[in-house]
Amino acid sequence: MKNSRLLSPFNYKSFEVNNRVVMAPMTRSRAFGNIPNDLMATYYALRADAGLIITEGVSPSKNGLGYPNIPAIYSNEQLAAWRQIADAVHAREGKIFLQLMHTGRIAHELNLPEGGEILGPSAIGAEGEIYTNEGPRPKGIPRAMSKQDIAHTQNEYVQAAKNAIIAGFDGIEIHAANGYLPNQFLNKGSNDRKDEYGGSVENRCRFVLELTQKIAAAIGSDKTGIRISPFGQFNGMILYEDIPQTYSYLVAQLKGLNLAYLHLAKMSDAVPDEFLDELAAIFNGVVIFNGGYGYNLAKAESVLLQSERFLVSIGTPFVSNPDLIKRIELKAELNEVDESTLYTLGEEGYITYPTLENCSSGS
Ligand SMILES: Cc1cc2nc3c(=O)[nH]c(=O)nc-3n(C[C@H](O)[C@H](O)[C@H](O)COP(=O)(O)O)c2cc1C
Repeated sequence: MKNSRLLSPFNYKSFEVNNRVVMAPMTRSRAFGNIPNDLMATYYALRADAGLIITEGVSPSKNGLGYPNIPAIYSNEQLAAWRQIADAVHAREGKIFLQLMHTGRIAHELNLPEGGEILGPSAIGAEGEIYTNEGPRPKGIPRAMSKQDIAHTQNEYVQAAKNAIIAGFDGIEIHAANGYLPNQFLNKGSNDRKDEYGGSVENRCRFVLELTQKIAAAIGSDKTGIRISPFGQFNGMILYEDIPQTYSYLVAQLKGLNLAYLHLAKMSDAVPDEFLDELAAIFNGVVIFNGGYGYNLAKAESVLLQSERFLVSIGTPFVSNPDLIKRIELKAELNEVDESTLYTLGEEGYITYPTLENCSSGS
């Protein structure tokens, strides 16, 4: 019997997908030279029966390429290479949004292309090491962005969003979660600015809100989604007193922009479920819930039963199960993920996981 809610078609205020299971964005570091390739097209096309695919984080700028071998979409060559990926997913009747991820201070100079620079809201480095092609290195110290840098960076995002639409994507997701540049503006641990981009709740939200407005104006609010991770502590984000006020304000403002969706990442046990429910209520549009639901389909189903406008996103099970939708339908066992190949170049652990069909044919 079909899982009733997960696999049922979804249409809320003209946001239409074939089922309610979204493939969560996952960096896989296969884009040698920061340019997407055939291997990536194969990987995404294999997963096209997800209701929606959100791609791995894609940099809008030379300055946003803090990790090795992550893709970008600021040059014509990159844009053209992304087209084959959008086309491959559409050929299988899938829907795909491209996630715009600017790493900001989560970077090392060795990973940046020529002319790239580590930028952040303030000159505060994140602790810990980051992988480079020469081995792990301490993360770099960012240069505090001037107002000119802020406007320039926002314009880079706008151009990248336009490029994604030209390349054939159905929309873009702004990665404002998990400690990357937009999140660095929201968080007091990485933002101690004294101007209108730091300090108060309104000021710390300004970068994200301006950015979202500009992108939505350029490509359409119905093609613009955003991901946030309230209380997340990944990449050196800290807990501070007015997190609830910060995110309630942010989401209330985002609601006014009529976006395609709000994607809520539960990246920490510090976030109370009720708070995410509150944000979903404030937003009052399509909400994608992510975080640990992947291995617990009963929980995902119960989230979906709460509202007609909810979707769930699933991460790692999509890495190891290209036919995850089929497996959910048949309640089949899932392949385990091999963590050692999450970020390695090449096919292994990328397009080599077996489908049920491969298993039954013994190949
Ligand atoms: C290999 C890997 C790469 C990831 N890269 C990204 C990314 O580029 N952007 C993002 O928003 N989240 C990223 N995440 C977080 C996932 O989207 C998701 O929130 C997380 O895996 C939890 O969901 P799950 O329990 O279903 O795997 C990544 C997670 C993994 C495992």
